[in-house]
Amino acid sequence: MLPLPTMQWMDGFLRLLDQRKLPSEETYIDCRDIDSLAEAIKTLAVRGAPAIGIAAAFGAVIAAKTIDPGEEFDSAFHSKIDILEGTRPTAVNLFHCLEIQRDTFRRNPGRENAARALLESAIDMMQSDLEASRQMGRFGADLLKSGSVVLTHCNAGGLATAGLGTALAVIYEAWDRNLLRKVYANETRPLLQGARLTSWELSRAGIPVYVLPDSAAASLLRNGEVDAVIVGSDRIAANGDAANKIGTYPLALAAKEHGVPFYVVAPLSTFDVSTSCGSEIEIEQRGRDELAELGDRKLLPEAAGVWNPAFDVTPAPLITAIICENGVLFSPDTESVLSACE
Ligand code: MRU
Repeated sequence: MLPLPTMQWMDGFLRLLDQRKLPSEETYIDCRDIDSLAEAIKTLAVRGAPAIGIAAAFGAVIAAKTIDPGEEFDSAFHSKIDILEGTRPTAVNLFHCLEIQRDTFRRNPGRENAARALLESAIDMMQSDLEASRQMGRFGADLLKSGSVVLTHCNAGGLATAGLGTALAVIYEAWDRNLLRKVYANETRPLLQGARLTSWELSRAGIPVYVLPDSAAASLLRNGEVDAVIVGSDRIAANGDAANKIGTYPLALAAKEHGVPFYVVAPLSTFDVSTSCGSEIEIEQRGRDELAELGDRKLLPEAAGVWNPAFDVTPAPLITAIICENGVLFSPDTESVLSACE
């Protein structure tokens, strides 16, 4: 499986595959300044926890390169990084990657020196993410039996990472090993990452994929049609609670009720041991228009309000195992999470 061209550094600017347009258009946007990159992250042109973090790491290179000669270099750099940090609150990868870049900046004074070191560091993060995906794919596929049917939610694939995925890395590896029969993808209301992105990625790889409304997942699990549920994560707290796209928690409840294993696949850059449990994770609330409009069509009367959280938290006791590049954490808890992060 070749990495998807989710993002490419183009010698001075960052080229992003515009995920807002998929699957109908495969177009790219070029981010040459911090405001355009921040807008791309906020509006989900680039999305998924690892991809957001790595895109922001390249953003730090753009930050160093676009400081006006009249500005105080250090404070101008950190102000630009603050803008990137303010884009989305839940995926910890964003903060993790930007903290590494702030530190790289501090250790490499001078415009040229800083820009070169920041670029090396961003490329390093991208390569580490690809390697982590390959490793998670291998660990995860080891857990699947021949002829497996897998259900996934949102998009935790190449589009959400440096190019190979987390949950979908397991699916790609299982497909290569001839262990996989088919994949069910929840459509993932309201922005349809499952319908638009996961089904695009999997069909592109020749993997049979069936999209279902999120509300049909519990019935599919009760019918005994699924051997494993495999999802990604945006932030894993020290006790193993995992934040992921809204709709993951009810999926975990239904999987538990029907005795189906529930796996969370995430690199260590998604672990946040400074957060002790899931209730401490900030959940992003998104705008009314995502629920109130469908293209030009109004779906809600003006008087109706909305509640539109982008993520929910699955408590650790509902998770059969967390799969990371360091191994498989069965029945995850504080002890196993801390030891995976050592
Ligand atoms: O709002 P999104 O599309 O950025 O949400 C993405 C998810 O919830 C993914 O499942 C998660 O980031 C893991 S991606 C490997």
